[in-house]
Amino acid sequence: MNVPVYVALDFSDRTKMERLIETLGETATHYKIGLETYLAFGNSFVDQMIAKGKTIFLDLKFHDIPNTVASAVANAAQMGVALMTVHALGGEAMVRSAVEAAMRHGQERTGILAVTYLTSHDQATLPLSNQREVALAIQIDELANLAELAHAHGVVASAHEIAMIKEKHPSLHVLVPGIRPEGFAVQDQARVATPKQAVLAGADYLVVGRPITQAQDPLAVLKMIVKACQ
Ligand code: C5P
Repeated sequence: MNVPVYVALDFSDRTKMERLIETLGETATHYKIGLETYLAFGNSFVDQMIAKGKTIFLDLKFHDIPNTVASAVANAAQMGVALMTVHALGGEAMVRSAVEAAMRHGQERTGILAVTYLTSHDQATLPLSNQREVALAIQIDELANLAELAHAHGVVASAHEIAMIKEKHPSLHVLVPGIRPEGFAVQDQARVATPKQAVLAGADYLVVGRPITQAQDPLAVLKMIVKACQ
């Protein structure tokens, strides 16, 4: 199986973050850099991690007009990140313009992932009241369809939707956040699964943040998750 585990770096404190990276050592081969870390440490940190041989997922979740998103993706793809995100709710034209920009500017091809609904949402907390009236699975299927039509590399979804996405949209890779090993706090996530559940459901990539970054022994937790992914 060997599903890659992206360790989510959500940090504003550089010293704490560097200590974690040091502790995880060679066991952590994949890192996700999100808004907090990117805004604190910028492109030079992304370059530094790539120079260390780490595979980087830049998770900035773009949602803007197609031209603006294409230009932003072009700049990010030139850094050599493996994956990046846009919101599927930005529409097919926006996702397609991101995919085309990544193809033109990615040193190796940068995969564009379309975020369906954030894993912090469930049916009851969808942003608009009329969205709450349509089953989440139906809406996620539509967003995955949009991603497929735009030729995205894949989608970001919870473990609960993997089987449906894989069955109806086999070309899409599925990256799964909201991972909580048994006994770990759910925190602000809603649609959670254990690493094993996500892998058995067919996840292509996992993203794990606080269960590792806030652990007493982050390396032990990462090793346990990596084992569940093999
Ligand atoms: O700490 P935790 O494991 O909840 O971190 C999950 C990471 O995945 C966070 O960095 C969050 O921004 C990101 N993410 C998510 N849900 C999505 C997309 C990304 O939780 N749909």
